[in-house]
Amino acid sequence: MDIRLLRPSDIPLIQHANLENLPENYFLKYYLYHALSWPQLSFVAVDVSRPAKTPYDYPKIVGYVLAKMEEEPTDGVQHGHITSLSVMRTHRRLGIAEKLMRQSQQAMVETFNARYVSLHVRVSNQAAIHLYRNTLKFETEKTEAKYYADGEDAFCMKLDLDFIK
Ligand code: ACO
Repeated sequence: MDIRLLRPSDIPLIQHANLENLPENYFLKYYLYHALSWPQLSFVAVDVSRPAKTPYDYPKIVGYVLAKMEEEPTDGVQHGHITSLSVMRTHRRLGIAEKLMRQSQQAMVETFNARYVSLHVRVSNQAAIHLYRNTLKFETEKTEAKYYADGEDAFCMKLDLDFIK
């Protein structure tokens, strides 16, 4: 498995993975906005066990993290935000999401001097909550009622990045 920076040419595959894995979907231009504005922060996991046979073959992308810097932080503190994270079903529980998240967190600090990273997660999403809370040590700041379009609440989570220096 290769973890590398997201390239604009990966975006159609990322959008496909997002549609497969999550109900929160975005227009192509929103992915492009991330890739062009913060090219250091978003990563993909590529299955290199099946290498491309021709220059026209697509890479097999099995996971991604789409991340950004908060543009106008209300607290005045430079921080990153995880817009979307997902791993294809066939490749889950192999540590891919943890690696994607750690790479993005590192880049937030090294490139933008981020002090913390934030995200939203559905209160019912046990797998993601385990990853954020237990593996990566995020803390739950608050619960945002009816954050999602279907009325589900979100946990607003935050991880202090001062441990990365
Ligand atoms: N139930 C409980 N714990 C789980 C589960 C699960 N279904 N899946 C993974 N974990 C645990 C692992 O055991 C591991 O714990 P450990 O550190 O104690 O050993 C930890 O979570 C990290 O596991 P990874 O293998 O790195 O996670 P994976 O690559 O499988 O990806 C993810 C996890 C991204 C949540 C995946 O299940 C997925 O894509 N789900 C659908 C999309 C989704 O929910 N994305 C997050 C939405 S929130 C947002 O985008 C900001």
